[in-house]
Amino acid sequence: MTLARNLILICLAASAVAKSLRQDDEAKAELERYIENKVPEINQRWRPHYHVAPPVGWMNDPNGFSYYNGEYHLFYQFYPYDSVWGPMHWGHVSSPDLVHWQQLPTALLPDEEQCFSGSAVQDGDTMVLMYTAHILSDREPFYNETQYLAYSDDGVDFYKYSGNPVLPSAPNGSPDFRDPKVWRHGDHWYVILGSKTTDLRGRVLLYRSTDLKDWEFLTVLAELQGDMGYMWECPDFFELDGKFILLMSPQGLAPQGDRYKNTYQNGYIIGSFNYETFEFVQEVPFQEIDFGHDFYAAQTTEVNGKRYLISWFSMWEVPHPEDVDGWAGMMTIARELKLVNNKIIMKPVEEMTNIRQDVPILNVLEYNEELDLEQAVEINIEANFDEILEIKLEGKNGGGHVVLSWDPLVGKVAVSRGTEDVRQVEWNPSNETSWKIFLDSSSIELFCGIGDVVFSSRVYPLGGWRLTNLSSQDIEIEAYNLKKSFPV
Ligand SMILES: *[C@@H]1O[C@H](CO)[C@@H](O)[C@H](O)[C@H]1NC(C)=O
Ligand SMILES: *[C@@H]1O[C@H](CO)[C@@H](O)[C@H](O)[C@H]1NC(C)=O
Ligand SMILES: *[C@@H]1O[C@H](CO)[C@@H](O)[C@H](O)[C@H]1NC(C)=O
Repeated sequence: MTLARNLILICLAASAVAKSLRQDDEAKAELERYIENKVPEINQRWRPHYHVAPPVGWMNDPNGFSYYNGEYHLFYQFYPYDSVWGPMHWGHVSSPDLVHWQQLPTALLPDEEQCFSGSAVQDGDTMVLMYTAHILSDREPFYNETQYLAYSDDGVDFYKYSGNPVLPSAPNGSPDFRDPKVWRHGDHWYVILGSKTTDLRGRVLLYRSTDLKDWEFLTVLAELQGDMGYMWECPDFFELDGKFILLMSPQGLAPQGDRYKNTYQNGYIIGSFNYETFEFVQEVPFQEIDFGHDFYAAQTTEVNGKRYLISWFSMWEVPHPEDVDGWAGMMTIARELKLVNNKIIMKPVEEMTNIRQDVPILNVLEYNEELDLEQAVEINIEANFDEILEIKLEGKNGGGHVVLSWDPLVGKVAVSRGTEDVRQVEWNPSNETSWKIFLDSSSIELFCGIGDVVFSSRVYPLGGWRLTNLSSQDIEIEAYNLKKSFPV
């Protein structure tokens, strides 16, 4: 071939790439116009004031929780065109402080593949997303999952890698092969993925790479034994206070007493890990990380030695009352993790105090006395946990309600949205005799004591919140109305 012919071919190839990029840009611009036109139609009654939610349409798993060029980034599974699940995009928000969030243009749109869950890392000046390409096929099981990369040089515009897929199949060929979580250690990138054994037990696979493109399979990091579910989704693996944590979302755990009452669970195994042998030695069996009704697919990131977690604040196969309003699903507030006595404790990030309205509401309520609050509130309660504590939170104009209670004789904290809709768990109030509650227009997050027991539940009050004292003890309440830190 002559040089001229080569040049022509190169030019043709370049113009084909340019053309496909332009089509891509056009599709993105059209989607942003669609979102902009749709936002004013959204009913605001249950829109969060300080939780991340989709501008319109459906949200599920958090993705790509990371820090890039001085800002936190959070992506999420997103279907803009209806408030139910549909072909997956990646929505995108960023924040300077994990509290004030800004909506950014949709980062990934589906092409031949749906853009399922994944993670993000910074490689030099480039932000790299690794995600599962979920492609429908006409053969059993009618889908195929491989891993794709996408890049950005500014943390806003993303382009997909032309050499995708970078991981075409699981070692055993399982079609369930998803949710890559990438991290850096020493000279290598590592990734874990959720998959299945041939006899359909959940397992987590570990790979490593020097360039994020060529991956070497290392080992099965963990494999489910007994009845620990048929799939482990959204695995995350990280060091916390000297131990290693395998965080994941098992599907298929049978309910046991108070435990595993949600459709699916989210929890962790504590162990130790050796980067020479790649062996994860499990030391403490699976524990749930949050005990509320609506918590799934949590993802973490580490910044300046602190480990933060955000979770989907919703659940599969339950009603999502906000869907009639044009949106569905949101994220929990960011929490900082620590390991204490073989338990992960979660605390709201310190920066949450930045959205307090200046003047606290201080109160001691008589029995059955009510306190009216706005839609977004932080409540701190000091109580004597040798006695019963019970408070009701409901809408000033009706709608959903929730009762929070502690009974020292039973030794459990309970969060009840109705007699058939209770979540409860043992708690030891030995050190901190306080509760911290974050209320938003359709949610409650209860942090007990040092954060060893946390409940995240969606509740749908109408109007602002009304708190009623159902206890017979002296309780001090300090409440702050909260400013809006999430637009639209
Ligand atoms: C999925 O597609 C890739 C090619 O992109 C192929 O290598 C792999 O075997 C397929 N996996 C399954 C389970 O069919
Ligand atoms: C609830 O009522 C009791 C009895 O009147 C009182 O001692 C206690 O301080 C009240 N609790 C709150 C939350 O104000
Ligand atoms: C609880 O308090 C005891 C003594 O006051 C202290 O030694 C211990 O570390 C505390 N535990 C936690 C989890 O903070």
